Amino acid sequence: MANLQSSSFLLTLCLFLITSLSSDFDPSQDFCVGDLKASPSTINGFPCKSSVSSNDFVFSGLKGPLNTSNPNGATVASGNVLTFPGLNTLGVSMNNVEFAPGGVGQPHTHPRATEAGVVIEGSVFVGFLTTNNTLFSKVLSAGEMFVVPRGLVHFQFNVGKGKARLITVFNSQLPGAVILPNTLFGSNPAIPNAVLTKTFRIDDVTVNNIKSKFVV
Ligand SMILES: *[C@@H]1O[C@H](CO)[C@@H](O)[C@H](O)[C@H]1NC(C)=O
Ligand SMILES: *[C@@H]1O[C@H](CO)[C@@H](O)[C@H](O)[C@H]1NC(C)=O
Repeated sequence: MANLQSSSFLLTLCLFLITSLSSDFDPSQDFCVGDLKASPSTINGFPCKSSVSSNDFVFSGLKGPLNTSNPNGATVASGNVLTFPGLNTLGVSMNNVEFAPGGVGQPHTHPRATEAGVVIEGSVFVGFLTTNNTLFSKVLSAGEMFVVPRGLVHFQFNVGKGKARLITVFNSQLPGAVILPNTLFGSNPAIPNAVLTKTFRIDDVTVNNIKSKFVV
């Protein structure tokens, strides 16, 4: 009985250790500036560039201001391994997100990372949903930080009168983004209407109407 208990304890401990590992692999060298042109790319990230300089470790792409004249009234500039190869193998990335008044960061998930963010300017309603559909949300102003647990659906909405800006950080070099309206209504090839009419309990006309707004 004691043996059974201790082995199930060990099993639980192993499962806990496996599931609590950080989302990207730990690097096995100081750095590995990604050589994006090298082929084939490896399964997890890119091979290392053979020659590097200081410029490989800095990125100027988060400065803004961004053009938010689009249907969402929001634009994201990403500093991930694809735009900033110096992040390769280091397990971190950042975004600059800007919103026009009323702009929305549509409900989305990052399958490979937990997200933290800080409001730099404006007033932003941020929220995430748990796997049991509980909404945790709050209006934040400049200097306030939030966190979104890995993989959970979340959104941001500019509730201020002026523009709003966030800086977000991820514990992955390439967190990925599943943007729900685009995924469901703007995929290529499209999800058949029969799936969407049944899922959302709406008719074909409504599905086609929504699809027409999310063409890829
Ligand atoms: C912003 O983007 C819109 C839509 O693409 C474009 O029409 C407009 O010229 C852009 N504005 C600036 C200042 O680049
Ligand atoms: C869902 O999770 C929340 C937060 O952990 C908890 O308070 C609530 O009771 C749960 N609701 C259901 C229906 O399980």
